[in-house]
Amino acid sequence: MTDPNLSPQAGEPPASKKVANQYERGYDYTKYWDNRDYENAAEHIAIRRLLKGNHYRKAADIGGGFGRLCLLLRTFSDEVTLAEPAATQLEAAKEVLAGTDVKQVQMQADDLKFADGELDLVTMVRVMHHLPEPSAEFTEIARVLAPGGTAIIEVANYGHYKNRRRHKKEGKPLPTEPVSIRTVKADEPDAIAFVNHNVDTVVGQLAAAGLVLENKLSVSNLRSQRVKKALPTSAMLAVERATQRRLAKNNFGPSIFLKLRKN
Ligand SMILES: C[S@@+](CC[C@H](N)C(=O)[O-])C[C@H]1O[C@@H](n2cnc3c(N)ncnc32)[C@H](O)[C@@H]1O
Repeated sequence: MTDPNLSPQAGEPPASKKVANQYERGYDYTKYWDNRDYENAAEHIAIRRLLKGNHYRKAADIGGGFGRLCLLLRTFSDEVTLAEPAATQLEAAKEVLAGTDVKQVQMQADDLKFADGELDLVTMVRVMHHLPEPSAEFTEIARVLAPGGTAIIEVANYGHYKNRRRHKKEGKPLPTEPVSIRTVKADEPDAIAFVNHNVDTVVGQLAAAGLVLENKLSVSNLRSQRVKKALPTSAMLAVERATQRRLAKNNFGPSIFLKLRKN
């Protein structure tokens, strides 16, 4: 089947469907990471930066897929749960996390199987592009976090530099609502949503759920096939390190990492 990350349909309204079973329909997400060493390392750098100097008791990676980030999180937390709705992802995680103490539990972000205040760290990376209306998920994240707990939420950013420039040229303001990024029609009526968000709108939705912005990084700032062909990964990562903080103010990159604190 088509890689859902590469199969958006312009102009299609964001679907309200939140069930993550696109990842159970023959799509091998582990392969998505072939030739994406730069993006993977850029996200590791961002998470390390945002968590530096802190240690947590109990963490969960929501929509954590096959556990790509769980071992990094384990270096910051005594306990880590991979919280993932798709059985195929959890199956792949068995191999990736074999021999570790990372727990693997099937659950969806709007119905987290944790008690109120049970966690002091929650991460949710590369899931927001499946959530056109994430308020229920944010409320759940706030519920399971202890007061003072930390959430790191990655936002697929519509207002990145290229779109910002295009909108300016066309004299159109950036939309405040999520924008569907499907480029080919979904092959199934209940296909998972693919959207990019307005980061300021998302920050407002998080605040309404009691999650207050503490820090922000602009990530994968050099995500471009042309740059990848021209520069070695090490050089791209040197630029990435130097720019994640300073480009965050204007939401430059395609991926914005938010660090939030539960009130
Ligand atoms: C692009 S993958 C990202 C996986 C992982 N976070 C990573 O960065 O490698 C998207 C993941 O989100 C999960 N997902 C989709 N909708 C979800 C929802 N409503 N609640 C929780 N997870 C969801 C999918 O099953 C899939 O594993």
